[in-house]
Amino acid sequence: MIVEADPESTSVGRGGFPDAAGDVTLDASIMDHRGQCGAVACLEKTLHPISVARAVMERTQHVLLVGEKARDFATQIGFPKTGLLTPNARKAWKAWKANNPKWRSFSTDISNHDTIGMLAIDKQGNLSGACTTSGWAFKIPGRVGDSPIIGAGLYVDNEIGAATATGTGEEVIKICGSFLVVELMRQGYSPQRACEEAVSRIKKRNPGNPELFVGFIAINKSGEHGAFATKTGFEYALYQHGQNRLIPGLF
Ligand code: GLY
Repeated sequence: MIVEADPESTSVGRGGFPDAAGDVTLDASIMDHRGQCGAVACLEKTLHPISVARAVMERTQHVLLVGEKARDFATQIGFPKTGLLTPNARKAWKAWKANNPKWRSFSTDISNHDTIGMLAIDKQGNLSGACTTSGWAFKIPGRVGDSPIIGAGLYVDNEIGAATATGTGEEVIKICGSFLVVELMRQGYSPQRACEEAVSRIKKRNPGNPELFVGFIAINKSGEHGAFATKTGFEYALYQHGQNRLIPGLF
């Protein structure tokens, strides 16, 4: 929620870069130790999409609400409409648009793609996770990434472990990324090795694309954790024993 409200973050919540039409659209999901989950996709004018995802999980029998109807749901349960396009994001969009007059037929900017993904384990060993993003900068309107897709951007199995992803969501969806990482841990892989294997499958599918960026983090039932990405520039934060640490992700 802190990052969603931070106007300096250009890939999550307020301050996130908009789609090609200049609208900021948000994706988020959440999953708990009981296997309950909720998600929103293509949600506009909402400061905390993760809280709406949580309300979908806790207050409905559904998993995923999208677009205008998701916004109607948010209104019904008391989330005010909030403008999210900051002057900085608007300026970036204008500059992008000036260079991309044909945006209706394709979208090319994959430089701004990060997602905040969080995994947690409590004292009882119960696992949960969440992720939230404004998605691919200047995406074709209507595009939804991996973050609100349970099994792609996020997956939690309280018997085994949890995983979440960042980067190019299309590639994560194609391999059911977070589900894959958890299933690999079920087969005995450590969280680190499971993230490495998922990344290697994505790399195999995309030979000759050194720019492609995807990263996973994972935690298992014992609290062991790991992370791996297709390339450098990925770090993750670990809060453990009362301390916060930034750990460079391997690649
Ligand atoms: N991983 C975030 C997205 O592609 O939307």
